[in-house]
Amino acid sequence: MTSRDQILRLFRRRPGEYISGQELSQALQVSRAAIWKQIESLRQAGYEIEARRSRGYRLLGGPEPLLAEEIMADLLVQRIGRSLICLAETDSTNSHVRRLAAEGAEEGLVVIADRQSAGRGRLGRRWESPSGVNLYVSILLRPQIPVQQAPQLTFLSAVAVAETLNRCYQLNARVKWPNDILVGGAKIAGLLNEMDAETEQVHFVILGIGVNLNMTKEQFPDTLLYPATSVKLETGRSVDRVEFIRQFLLTLDRYYVEFLAEEFGPIRRRWEALCDLLNASVQVDLGDRMLEGVVVGLDYDGALRLQLADGRVERILAGDVKPVKCEK
Ligand code: BTN
Repeated sequence: MTSRDQILRLFRRRPGEYISGQELSQALQVSRAAIWKQIESLRQAGYEIEARRSRGYRLLGGPEPLLAEEIMADLLVQRIGRSLICLAETDSTNSHVRRLAAEGAEEGLVVIADRQSAGRGRLGRRWESPSGVNLYVSILLRPQIPVQQAPQLTFLSAVAVAETLNRCYQLNARVKWPNDILVGGAKIAGLLNEMDAETEQVHFVILGIGVNLNMTKEQFPDTLLYPATSVKLETGRSVDRVEFIRQFLLTLDRYYVEFLAEEFGPIRRRWEALCDLLNASVQVDLGDRMLEGVVVGLDYDGALRLQLADGRVERILAGDVKPVKCEK
């Protein structure tokens, strides 16, 4: 649990009461200056906190909770978002959807949490999930497609996130293979898509999406391995989370319906249009060796197609792709 969430928990246990800076700093084992910094970051995230010199801090109000009825009101979707659950907290929305899928939940179920206590990122990493600021959502799909095509859905969700950000906030969000969304080179959203399948048949796919909407600089952990940003940091304005979720679900639903009818082609073209590295010279770190070539597109299963100097096209299934800097 982050310091910020610990402070919130203390406030919520003692509604209406002042808690002194000293008590907070003792409870969290951090300095009073660090407490003050966290209180400031809570204020920026929309919490109203009164500070009184002799008494301490008191929580007066917080951001609006996410309400399923509000998100679903007149939402014209065909498949995604026909049922939607909003939780104040869960371990991970992906894990939550997996449990419901095992009990037979239907395609299109959307689970949103205000905060995650064990948000998961790729490669076993943690996904920082403070309350009141971002979107943490997982969606259950049951497409009748071969297992090898399931990764195509990652590109579908990447396109829906990037296009919603660009349309609603005039950002220039771009996609980075395989599943990052970047603005100005900093990560604004991440995707963790998971599958349950037998040899040939997909049982279900979970699209897990985290979008940094109102996160402030202080809320990003110092230990992040990459630069990160949020819509608020980019635009200087707070995002209405409900409106973003509605716009995102509409876009995702439209593309999923199109995908079921027309397969991967349209999504592949949209993804390629959002990718800065198409036709660019890149280096790919495969862990045990490096490859250099030109990105020529996506394959049917989501592999990156890399044309090598000798003209052969190599399929990259996993690896870290970086542009080759041209020296003049
Ligand atoms: C990454 O870039 O590493 C992927 C991050 C994915 C985070 C989202 S938040 C909603 C869903 N639930 C999780 O536990 N993870 C995904």
